[in-house]
Amino acid sequence: MSNLIELKVPDIGDVKDVDVIEVFVKAGDVIKKDDSLITLETDKASMEVPAEAGGVVKEVRIKVGDKVSEGSLIVLIEAAGAAATAPVAAAPVAAPAPAPAPAAAPVAAASSTVEVKVPDIGDAKNVDVIEVFVKVGDTVKKDDSLITLETDKASMEVPSPTAGVVQSLAIKVGDKASEGTLILTLAAAGTAPVASPAAAPAPAAAAPAPTPAAAPVAAAAAVAAPVAAAKVDEASFKAAHASPSVRKFARELGVDLGKVKGSGPKGRIVASDVQAFVKSVMSGAVAAGPAPVNGSGVGLDLLPWPKVDFAKYGPVENKPLSRIKKISGANLARNWVMIPHVTQFDEADITEMEAFRKEMGEELKKQNLKITPLAFLIKAVVAALKKFPEFNSSLDGDNLVLKQYFHIGFAADTPNGLVVPVIRDADKKSLLELAAESGALAAKARDGKLLPAEMQGGCFSISSLGGVGGTAFTPIVNAPEVAILGVSKSSIKPVWNGSEFAPRLILPLSLSYDHRVIDGASAARFTTYLAQVLGDIRRLML
Ligand code: COA
Repeated sequence: MSNLIELKVPDIGDVKDVDVIEVFVKAGDVIKKDDSLITLETDKASMEVPAEAGGVVKEVRIKVGDKVSEGSLIVLIEAAGAAATAPVAAAPVAAPAPAPAPAAAPVAAASSTVEVKVPDIGDAKNVDVIEVFVKVGDTVKKDDSLITLETDKASMEVPSPTAGVVQSLAIKVGDKASEGTLILTLAAAGTAPVASPAAAPAPAAAAPAPTPAAAPVAAAAAVAAPVAAAKVDEASFKAAHASPSVRKFARELGVDLGKVKGSGPKGRIVASDVQAFVKSVMSGAVAAGPAPVNGSGVGLDLLPWPKVDFAKYGPVENKPLSRIKKISGANLARNWVMIPHVTQFDEADITEMEAFRKEMGEELKKQNLKITPLAFLIKAVVAALKKFPEFNSSLDGDNLVLKQYFHIGFAADTPNGLVVPVIRDADKKSLLELAAESGALAAKARDGKLLPAEMQGGCFSISSLGGVGGTAFTPIVNAPEVAILGVSKSSIKPVWNGSEFAPRLILPLSLSYDHRVIDGASAARFTTYLAQVLGDIRRLML
């Protein structure tokens, strides 16, 4: 049998007729004990009112703009088995103090199990599952994203059709799904015990959805990333008009609330304002740091992105960026601003290597195989990574993660933009295997058929523009890797051999590296060694 519990405004001191400025719940929501229900605001403080018990919200008796006092009814919830003899009051939390640590609270209620399946996704079949946002035990609200599906043309998030607690997951990243594929089962009213972490969580309704529905994967990831390098002005953060949960959310993202314009009542900053601010910083529309006045030296110190009506000056055509361009653009911008790059230039004499490659090429042609300089570069890079392990690492806070595997990525130019397929365990592969695999991955990349897994796990990247042209360039490190090798077009140059100038085939190398991890001297040693190996490929046998 189920019982209705009244959750009322608790003792809030002497104040009466206090403004309700946010309501976090609606009928049908599954809430846990201590989830925030509403925010109240007086002239002096704002406070979130947490739920004194968990259950399913049956009725919300309050709306934004109402005035309430101690004892005003907020919501009616249903919690089967819970004692409901007396109305339960909730304890107020004055801003900016965090909500009290909740106890692990099983949400006991009459439950019905709902099978959530992939909805109608048009003609697409066997679509890749590239993200799963939930795990068993999670409480989801209606419309929370459950998974992301990706076809050649688009990615889409599948929202939850109802609120509940995840009982079982039937799908994982890498699976293929079609309309009707079972994603998970939900206990609609939550019989599964939902353990709350000891630390105060952000109230469910005030926290952002995992990713905005239908937003592309990388864009969502970019929004979730801290707003790089923007130092928070503590005084203006403190003075900002926002609830504790929004403050917590802003802290997580490194957003200075003092710079966020509030869209709530009386200019109050709500969670969506913080999200919008992060988006505008990532897209360059707003500077993360303060406006530069002769360079304050704080934050990014950038001017806002110029807004120009180009059509004023002549005919123009607007072309939306491809999805790949948007994703790689956000990543490149982050890597460019967060990593202190230095580029080390060098040259390798590949006269003998090319002679060998051409010789092999004739043989291979008969077997319909082709070997380009890229395969030799991968081999040489692996040898250099073995000799200089810090180039095969990633920064993790104050730790350096040194990898003992050698997965090499290479930038591939495709009609839709730049992608970086990864050759796994390149150290265990022969030149011919590397040539065949890089050729196959490059072809797949051009056809837009690379799977997410084929672009993950890289240790070091190579960007070869040698087939196109150029003498040198400064590639951007592909984070969380710490170095990338740029390769330009080889050309015949006169090289002094001690007695005369001899024509030699010279390959330009440009190694960009993360100066937080790699010193200039190490980078010079790395490229010198690389040039030696490419200059005498017998070294690859060592
Ligand atoms: N110098 C001179 N010629 C070179 C060369 C170099 N460094 N590298 C390759 N070549 C030659 C190849 O030998 C081949 O000529 P061949 O047919 O006579 O043998 C020709 O250029 C074309 O090679 P390509 O098809 O590009 O093969 P590849 O294995 O060298 O490169 C990719 C494969 C995927 C890396 C390449 O196609 C690509 O997309 N490069 C662009 C990467 C990029 O955009 N980087 C920028 C990121 S910021």
